[in-house]
Amino acid sequence: MKVIAVVSAKGGVGKTTLAANLACVLAAGGRRVIAIDLDPQNALRLHFGVPLDSIDGLSRATLTGDPWQTVLFDGLDGVTVLPYGAVLEDDRRRFEALVDQDTHWLAQALQNLRLDPSDVVIIDTPPGSSAYVRAALSTATFALNVVLADAASYAAIPLMERLIDSYATPRAEFGGVGYVVNQIDQSRQLTKDVLKVLRQMLGTRLFPGVIHLDEGVSEALACDTTLIHYDPLSQAAADFRACGAWLMTAVDAIAVSPRSVA
Ligand SMILES: Nc1ncnc2c1ncn2[C@@H]1O[C@H](COP(=O)(O)OP(=O)(O)O)[C@@H](O)[C@H]1O
Ligand SMILES: [Mg+2]
Repeated sequence: MKVIAVVSAKGGVGKTTLAANLACVLAAGGRRVIAIDLDPQNALRLHFGVPLDSIDGLSRATLTGDPWQTVLFDGLDGVTVLPYGAVLEDDRRRFEALVDQDTHWLAQALQNLRLDPSDVVIIDTPPGSSAYVRAALSTATFALNVVLADAASYAAIPLMERLIDSYATPRAEFGGVGYVVNQIDQSRQLTKDVLKVLRQMLGTRLFPGVIHLDEGVSEALACDTTLIHYDPLSQAAADFRACGAWLMTAVDAIAVSPRSVA
């Protein structure tokens, strides 16, 4: 099993959008994909047609000791979705304390899913530092850092790099970090300038393409689906497919250690 943590220092950059669309792309390529939502916003499921009034998810299942298998949804386009779930504030705090205390919680829960070595787990996370991001980075085979081509995103890159260095890099099974620039509007000079700086700074760690700004992304969400499903011929859908191919090349090159196969 390969575990991809989708992370960013800043919010609203498109982590959830990217996690959902990449999950779709990889599933279309024949992989078994489990999309896991570690963000209390519980928004990843909205891209996969999980009913809005459904409260089930991994937070409550973990607190009650129910197996995660009981809260897996067969999402659209062959993606298996594990929502965060809707919980009351007290339960959210109890769950967060549990996630924070037990470093191996996520690895253990994934192991209990008994996935195959070729399966891909994509984990959506909240922005910045949190118990959830620490758990995801402590379990990931690969970290995908989503950034915008703006000054705030650029300035925040070191924050996520520090988190990756602390929680992911020291582990033998961690295969590295990739960067994706989202919401690109090529008509803006500032965008072009920041992109140039990012390419110089990140080199081969940066996805060579970009994900274009596309209003179809929010239209797709309004229709409970991904852009890949909603408008497969759009520019951004082509971007997501190219990004998925790049991501899988990077991830498949990572040697699977005995621990992550077990
Ligand atoms: N490539 C894109 N083109 C247009 N809108 C986008 C794109 N990517 C994300 N968005 C929009 O930006 C907002 C934030 O995206 P989201 O995936 O929720 O970010 P995050 O998970 O990082 O907070 C949403 O309204 C989403 O529809
Ligand atoms: Mg999100």
